[in-house]
Amino acid sequence: MVGNEEKVIVLDFGGQYNQLIARCVRECNVYAEVHPYTMSLDEIRKMAPKGIIFTGGPNSVYEDASPHYDRAVLELGIPVLGICYGSQLMAYMLGGKVTTAPVSEYGRTKVTVDTSSKLLHGIDEETDVWMSHTDYIEEVPDGFRITSHSAVCPVAAMEDPIRKLYATQFHPEVTHTREGKKIISNFVYTICGCAGNWKIDSFVDEKIRQIRETVGDRKALCALSGGVDSSVAAVLMSKAIAKNLTCVFVDHGLLRKDEGDQVEAVFGPSGNYDLNFIRVNAADRFYEKLAGVEEPEQKRKIIGEEFIRVFEEEAKKIGAVDYLVQGTIYPDVIESGLGKSAVIKSHHNVGGLPDCVDFQEIIEPLRMLFKDEVRRAGKELGLPDSLVRRQPFPGPGLGVRIVGEVTADKVRMVQEADAIFREEVDRADLKERPGQYFAALSNMRSVGVMGDFRTYDYAVVLRAVNTTDFMTAECCEIPFEVQQTCMRRIINEVKGVNRVMFDLTSKPPGTIELE
Ligand code: XMP
Repeated sequence: MVGNEEKVIVLDFGGQYNQLIARCVRECNVYAEVHPYTMSLDEIRKMAPKGIIFTGGPNSVYEDASPHYDRAVLELGIPVLGICYGSQLMAYMLGGKVTTAPVSEYGRTKVTVDTSSKLLHGIDEETDVWMSHTDYIEEVPDGFRITSHSAVCPVAAMEDPIRKLYATQFHPEVTHTREGKKIISNFVYTICGCAGNWKIDSFVDEKIRQIRETVGDRKALCALSGGVDSSVAAVLMSKAIAKNLTCVFVDHGLLRKDEGDQVEAVFGPSGNYDLNFIRVNAADRFYEKLAGVEEPEQKRKIIGEEFIRVFEEEAKKIGAVDYLVQGTIYPDVIESGLGKSAVIKSHHNVGGLPDCVDFQEIIEPLRMLFKDEVRRAGKELGLPDSLVRRQPFPGPGLGVRIVGEVTADKVRMVQEADAIFREEVDRADLKERPGQYFAALSNMRSVGVMGDFRTYDYAVVLRAVNTTDFMTAECCEIPFEVQQTCMRRIINEVKGVNRVMFDLTSKPPGTIELE
């Protein structure tokens, strides 16, 4: 086994921040995996984790339909940390009292901390934490002591060090809890006794080993878009199963300017990798399916479905392909509403998949990782910096950057405007490049005047955002001169466009893509 012998299990009770908990643990160089609370106690025993974390969740522990867990998990001798709902569950399971709090707490809150606690050691006696609860622990179970409280929450943290049980009402995993990282690190190092020798390279090695074990000498087809995620997935898979992998790159006619040729240059026969690579030029087929369709979710589903149909056809030509490999990452999963969260949009590869897919299984080796972790895995796999640092590009491509109906002519407009915007931003001497920046095409047409003639043309929307996790984002300031140059060039060089706007919206309330 390579480095994954130390594992922390995050038992998911439906909270929003569950992957953030796993990520915080991984940042301490300890491997963490999120599993649903329906995972059996036997499975937990078999995995022999060094620690278990109960996550938050939207329910009330005293309601019958709420998720619970076998109380014996608290008697395994494995340290357990309960967070928010998880803390209430721990209290409830052991005979404490949980009720609706007279005052709910949401957001940044000051708590007082007993730093003689192993969990809270090294924390300021008064510290800011992130609270989000309507219930609270009114009475702790026998054997527990209270180690933190706020003005209105009597049990902000509790513990029974003899049984190695710890709990916080607040969320140490979110950045707004000022010393949250220290708390997680106290849990994994001091309490669970982890050595912390896991790194992203252990993840890569372990994944390669697991894939070899699962796929054996069967064949897999990788949906390669040339973006960071699918490129990392492709190279990882090819390290695992070599020529039993075929990478299929579908040019759906919704790519950025010249992108098809660029992807082929890297992954094709004259590129850097010894891969089975097939390029399918399928623009007409996609445009035909999208003709007359305006609704964003419907467009996403059509593109997602058509992708799969192309892959199925290619798989038939290759023969006996059992697996489809996709570069899905964690934010795709969460925003497609596959957990318990609401559907924001169906990220294709996830919620955008048709119900019936003609592959035995789908492999998503990066499903648990955040973007920056994928980039680190890419570096580890030896992918060039230019590829690893590429800004993300959605699977449905320009299909979700053209508001309303997609036509070949609109694709041309957005491709050209986007190329100009990216070129000017790259040329500008910015302190930091935005996390994502691109042009989109609104479906607004408006009147203008060019060379004494009236125009009635489309408006391009420029968008630049700063983000690290792509779940939240803020508008990135682009110098006014750069905006002006882009506006002039786009209007002069892109036929059919007579207006340029800059999108200032953060996420939330906006999303990064327009659709
Ligand atoms: P949104 O628009 O949801 O985007 O704020 C968040 C991040 O995800 C990218 N994105 C996608 N990536 N398939 C993908 O692989 C998709 O369907 C998809 N939709 C959005 C988006 O570019 C941003 O980086």
